[in-house]
Order: sequence, then structure tokens, then C-alpha cells
Amino acid sequence: MSATRLDGKKIALKIRAEVAQSVQKFVEDGNAAPKLAAVLVGDDPASQVYVRNKERACEKAGIASRLDRMPASTTPAELLARIDELNSDQSVNGILVQLPLPQIEGDGPALDEREVLDAIDPLKDVDAFSPINVGLLMQGRPRFLPCTPHGIVQMLHRCDIETAGKHVVVVGRSEIVGKPMAMMLAQKDSTCGPQTANATVTIAHSRTSNLKEVCLSADILIAAVGRPEMIRGDMIRPGAVVVDVGINRVGDRLVGDVAFDEAAETASAITPVPGGVGPLTIAMLLHNTLLAAKLQSGQ
Ligand SMILES: NC(=O)c1ccc[n+]([C@@H]2O[C@H](COP(=O)([O-])OP(=O)(O)OC[C@H]3O[C@@H](n4cnc5c(N)ncnc54)[C@H](OP(=O)(O)O)[C@@H]3O)[C@@H](O)[C@H]2O)c1
Repeated sequence: MSATRLDGKKIALKIRAEVAQSVQKFVEDGNAAPKLAAVLVGDDPASQVYVRNKERACEKAGIASRLDRMPASTTPAELLARIDELNSDQSVNGILVQLPLPQIEGDGPALDEREVLDAIDPLKDVDAFSPINVGLLMQGRPRFLPCTPHGIVQMLHRCDIETAGKHVVVVGRSEIVGKPMAMMLAQKDSTCGPQTANATVTIAHSRTSNLKEVCLSADILIAAVGRPEMIRGDMIRPGAVVVDVGINRVGDRLVGDVAFDEAAETASAITPVPGGVGPLTIAMLLHNTLLAAKLQSGQ
């Protein structure tokens, strides 16, 4: 392996310590500790682990949390009513609904993710999925930045990886990762994070016809596909920086969207899976929860 391993876990711990310090100051200034409410519908094992990790991370940062578990049989009206209640609860600063929502069994009405996310008060929308927060990001004046792309921006900055003038290829165009990632890196100047903007961005997806050539043209390649090890070593330009967002379970192993060993032969720097982007996502959720509390307290 010749590539530098980008240690997302270490950077995330640093960010979490910074957030904890700011939370402490916020409380010392006379404010209540920020509070995050997570809504978990159904009993998907991976979602349970994610929510538990978020709760633990909150606790370590001095952020209060509340978990609302709802059965898989929850109707849209019941879920929307719960969100309404959390929107009105002054003690709750941030709300997240753990995705994916379960598919309703039988003939009941299906839970519509978009409808549910749209119902969250934009000032409490710490995942930054609401149309208002997405729109503000598009306009280059973001309020909350979506956690996974923001974590990546922070990592690039803290590892002194410049994006200005670079060609970034983002493989994947999801609302959660690919699209906001591309938008943040294409912004003018530093509206979406320090020193990480002004890139020339290409978005690739399942209908991209020449994916290998597109990837080979990347100075920075960001893979957010959800297909185990589909980005091979021969798709990476020598010296490129590779960010692997994918989390795929293969047997009892977690692997990324990039074939790590092959890619590490060619890349100059690469994130591992696990221990790369994943921990940064949680760190930025804590950051957003504190930001939400500050915004709601008029700061
Ligand atoms: N580390 C973290 O914190 C974190 C956070 C979120 C997600 N993830 C992981 O990141 C991965 C992506 O998540 P997501 O939510 O963005 O996934 P998603 O919503 O399923 O989107 C996947 C994207 O990949 C594209 N794609 C699928 N097959 C492709 C192919 N053969 N060639 C090129 N593009 C292809 C799809 O294209 P189309 O649009 O054409 O269908 C789509 O845009 C998953 O493994 C997920 O678990 C990790």
C-alpha cells in the first residue's frame, strides 16, 4: 500500500471533543444542554445500531437525547403526529428520523419518507434533508449542512487536501450523500466549509456510460454507491484522493464501495471502511444539534 490512510475515526474524535467543549460553554452561558430527538420506526437491526451509536455520541458530548421507538405498524398519521409533537416541544432542538422507514405490511398506508422529512421543523432539521435547508445549500447560504458530506469536507480540510480547481467525481446522486456532496464542493469560496469549495464536479450514476474513464479523470474520487468494492484499482488515477462512503455488509465483513487494497496501490490517500467516513457523519450530527440549539436560543 502506498496511499496515506485518512483516519476518519481520529478526525471525528477531534471534532467531537471540539463540539463537547462548545456545548460546555453553551451550558455555562446559562442555556439548557442541546437535545436531540431520534425517531426509530420498526426494528431494523442496522438502524438500531446507528441510533444507539448516535445516543452514545450525544451523551459523551454533553448533548441530551431522547429516543422515540415506534412499531413497524405505525401509520403515516401517527408518525406525522409524533413529529408535530417534537416540533412543538421547546426542549427538543434537533429531530432525526432514522431511515430507511419500514415498508408497511398488509394493506395499510405506506410511510412516505419525503412526507415525513418535510414535516420536520427546518430549524430542528439536523440531518438537513428538508426542502428549505436543501434550498439554502443550493443558494450557497446553508443553515445546516448534511452530516455525511459535511464530514467529508471537514476531513479534506483537516488533512490539507485542497479542492479548489480540482476535478472531483462523485459516484452516486442520492439526496443524502451524492447530490449535496457535489453541491458543497462546487460552491464558490468557503460557504460550505473551510477551504473546501471551487472544485469542478462531475456526478456519475447508474446511467453513466463510461464510468471507468470518468473515474480515471478524478483528482478526488468520492464513491457513494452502495455496491461492495465496485470501484476497482484500475479506475483510479495515480495520485488521486479516494473517499469511500459505502458501507456494505458482505458475510460478516463491512466493506466499502472501493476495492481498498487495489485502490491503495494507486491513490495518494484513501479512507478505510470502517473507520473512514462513518464516524465523521455522527460527529457532524452533534455539531448540527449544537447549532440548532444556538439558532433556537437566538444566537
Ligand atoms: N458512511 C456514512 O456515514 C454513510 C452515510 C450514508 C450512506 N452511506 C453508504 O453509502 C452508500 C450510498 O448510500 P446512498 O444513500 O447515497 O445510496 P442510494 O440512495 O442507494 O444511491 C446510490 C447511488 O449510486 C448510484 N449507482 C448505483 N449503481 C451504480 C453503478 N453500477 N454505477 C454507478 N452508480 C451507481 C445510483 O444511481 P441512480 O441514481 O442512477 O440509481 C444512486 O445515485 C451506501 O453503502 C450507504 O450505506 C454511508
